[in-house]
Amino acid sequence: VLREEALATLRLRAGGVYVDATFGAGGYTRAMLQAADCRVIAFDRDPGARAFAAPLMAQYPDRLTLIEAPFSRMDTEVRALGPSMVDGVVLDIGVSSMQLDEAERGFSFRQDGPLDMRMGAGGPSAADLVNRESEARLADIFYYFGEERFARVIARAIVTARQASPITTTRQLADLIAGCIRVRPQDIHPATRSFQALRIAVNDELGELASALHAAERLLAPDGVLSVVTFHSLEDRIVKTFFNARSGRTQGGSRHQPVLVEPKPTFRIDGKWPISPSHAELVANPRARSAKLRAGIRTSLEATAADTSVMALAALPEPKRGRR
Ligand SMILES: C[S@@+](CC[C@H](N)C(=O)[O-])C[C@H]1O[C@@H](n2cnc3c(N)ncnc32)[C@H](O)[C@@H]1O
Repeated sequence: VLREEALATLRLRAGGVYVDATFGAGGYTRAMLQAADCRVIAFDRDPGARAFAAPLMAQYPDRLTLIEAPFSRMDTEVRALGPSMVDGVVLDIGVSSMQLDEAERGFSFRQDGPLDMRMGAGGPSAADLVNRESEARLADIFYYFGEERFARVIARAIVTARQASPITTTRQLADLIAGCIRVRPQDIHPATRSFQALRIAVNDELGELASALHAAERLLAPDGVLSVVTFHSLEDRIVKTFFNARSGRTQGGSRHQPVLVEPKPTFRIDGKWPISPSHAELVANPRARSAKLRAGIRTSLEATAADTSVMALAALPEPKRGRR
């Protein structure tokens, strides 16, 4: 989705060093290596990405490195390799089709598998969250990360069901959710939003995205490009807020508390964003209907502390006292 458009923003050139922060099956990296005699440092926290990188490394010796780590650490990981700055960073956020298609990974409510949803190795699984979190916390996850109207009803049903026996499979959870929500035939599957929410929580997807934008800001050389493809509105809001804040489009402060320092833009925004998929792309892949591309060009000003409004968009609200 939006690959051509995203790669065009990078203005790839021979001798340049670029980060593909979401290697997946290597589609972006392959196109980058083909487009210019450049170096690509790729990231994926899914160990399954290695199998896709091997043939590309053989085809383009010395031009591709794959790092199995979260992309929020891209600045420190790239510097540990040698380069102190890069000419472009691209993120293609979301789950890969391999992750969705493999029933054992537990991402899909359409196939039965263990309720896992972890992109990388380690950390709590979706089953751990579903069986251990409080009812209020589960409701928050479904409400904020899934924009699910029936968040409380679903959380209540989960807590009741797990008292009898733990919920361990995708089918069990999908059926439980389907039993709580009345849907019309034209609606999306009733578990769609809750599965998205759990996936976001399990992988801290929004926190990772917000941190990655700041890591890219620290890593990019002046005139380097940050290009981000997102899959749904929660992600796009984070990217949009980041670029607005960092390009000086939002003025902090108020009449009563004016900003004391002039904003120092670390990005320049050229052109009109976001870009959405073409009609042809949407026909081929209707799941991409909310996909959006945004890009910014790094200025030479120094990166400052993380923007608090961006970080706040990525987190669940603090638990209210006495509610849990
Ligand atoms: C939509 S896919 C990318 C597909 C890729 N552009 C391609 O052409 O094949 C997103 C990938 O990012 C990886 N990913 C997601 N969050 C990550 C994170 N925080 N750190 C590193 N990799 C991550 C996922 O494991 C997945 O393989």
